[in-house]
Amino acid sequence: MHTNLLKWPLLLSVVVALCFSTAAYAQLTTYQLQDWLNSPAASSHVGDITGNAKAAALPYRRFCVGCHGELGDGNGENAVWFLTPLYAQPRNFQLAIFKCRSTPTGTLPTDQDLYDTIGRGMDRSNMPAWIPLSKQERADLVAWIKHYSPRWQTEKAGTPIQIPPEPEITPERVKAGQDVFARMQCFKCHGVQGKANGPSASTLTDDLSQPIAPFNFTDGSRPKCGSTDVDIYRIFMTGLDGTPMPSFADNIKPDEAWDLVFYLRSLQPHNAYNEKERQIANQLGLKPVNPNPAQ
Ligand code: HEC
Ligand code: HEC
Repeated sequence: MHTNLLKWPLLLSVVVALCFSTAAYAQLTTYQLQDWLNSPAASSHVGDITGNAKAAALPYRRFCVGCHGELGDGNGENAVWFLTPLYAQPRNFQLAIFKCRSTPTGTLPTDQDLYDTIGRGMDRSNMPAWIPLSKQERADLVAWIKHYSPRWQTEKAGTPIQIPPEPEITPERVKAGQDVFARMQCFKCHGVQGKANGPSASTLTDDLSQPIAPFNFTDGSRPKCGSTDVDIYRIFMTGLDGTPMPSFADNIKPDEAWDLVFYLRSLQPHNAYNEKERQIANQLGLKPVNPNPAQ
């Protein structure tokens, strides 16, 4: 009894503090959003198109709000249906953390990156490809996305990483790529055959503490951030921010990165891009990497 009485004021003060902090947050957000909508950051430049956030108010409401939410926080009314394990929640634009970037890990993406994502959609997720939207509408939506986060008010997009021209594929390169895959321990998550079944695979979570599966190279899935050789190179050299998929820019040299792209291609089932890689891997009789080379 005595101790219970003592606990009440403490509990009350916690509840009051919580109410105040969420109220202040919500107010700040609505007020700030108006402000940021009028700021220079609420624009975009994609090729010779200039995007204007205000022009995207209607298309956003029509096409995006159901998932990404009125406040851009990823809490649209459909978001609750996405709690299927291994399916990502709609992106919270207030955080401005994006998977698909041409820019180094930790930095903001370019307008072009966001524009490309909108047109491409994201495989193995509920993010559709917005092919019916015009280029102008997509550019306007990029600008609109940028009005949701304070980061765009103070930070500029990162500088896109340098990607040297793709070299000629040779058997030596495919073999060297496999060595990089082993040395960087990609198999810990992706598995020795790229089947997304490495020892860490079942333990991974994203920044929102949702379970997340590594990419399966062998089941015909498309990488979320593009399928060309350059896209694959970019994915492991920039990392998918907000996920356990790290950037290897500090550990893999550009030349080795191309070797790795060729090896990853050889793991994929036959597609429009990997004829030569598969042929070479077959001729070499490549076996899966050894996860315990010291033994
Ligand atoms: C049916 C739900 C849904 C709709 C509608 C939707 N999205 Fe998404 N969107 C998602 C999900 C889910 C993700 C996260 C996917 C992932 O991380 O694998 C996402 C991610 C994104 C990303 C982040 C990409 C990155 O690199 O991290 C952008 C940008 C985006 N959406 C823009 C839009 C725009 C613009 C529209 C409207 C034209 C839209 N989305 C409509 C579900 C949706
Ligand atoms: C700590 C675990 C982990 C390690 C180590 C790791 N990855 Fe990943 N990787 C992931 C996860 C998780 C995803 C899926 C992200 C998603 O779906 O949003 C992924 C996705 C990918 C994708 C596809 C991205 C896309 O857009 O769908 C590629 C390509 C890739 N990884 C390559 C590599 C390579 C190459 C290495 C080693 C140099 C590596 N990964 C190491 C966890 C890891």
